[in-house]
Amino acid sequence: MPRMTVNEQPVEFDMEPDTPLLWALRDAANLTGTKYGCGVGDCGACMVIIDGEALRSCLITIAEAEGRFITTIEGLSRDRSHPVQQALVAEQAIQCGFCTPGIAMAGAALIAKNADPSREDIEQAIPNLCRCGVYPRLVRAIERAGRVTRRRETISAAPAPGISAEDAAEEVPALRAPDE
Ligand code: FES
Ligand code: FES
Repeated sequence: MPRMTVNEQPVEFDMEPDTPLLWALRDAANLTGTKYGCGVGDCGACMVIIDGEALRSCLITIAEAEGRFITTIEGLSRDRSHPVQQALVAEQAIQCGFCTPGIAMAGAALIAKNADPSREDIEQAIPNLCRCGVYPRLVRAIERAGRVTRRRETISAAPAPGISAEDAAEEVPALRAPDE
């Protein structure tokens, strides 16, 4: 049974080793913020951060994820305060939102390595598909997230989407803090 660390919690999946990580996260860990788009590595909706790299969880088995450190959108911040999350909201780079978790993870991985990315850096690091076409706003949001990370700018906290983190944790056990 493959073991790994998900959002800073040790996890052991009692599933077939060739199960895609995407399905283990969504179906077993109830971390449904990671989305299924294409299942073949094209769209990026399933991106999570594994050992610092934004990777497509539909293409990685839980056997391949053994021993690795995985962060999903639920683990990026508990209060939507990560600069990428704040900037995506502030730049209105979200329409239907289906692609947003994958984009946030790719953007967060980029900003962690390079907080002053060029437009080309952003386009290369975030190849995610968005059926709503938020691409121009997406680039502006990641540039802005970089400025926030470099302390050149602040963004007020992202508005609550109608549910508090605590209320969400009551509904979704996977969102609870380890000591709760
Ligand atoms: S669902 Fe993984 S890349 Fe589309
Ligand atoms: S905002 Fe709808 S798919 Fe990107």
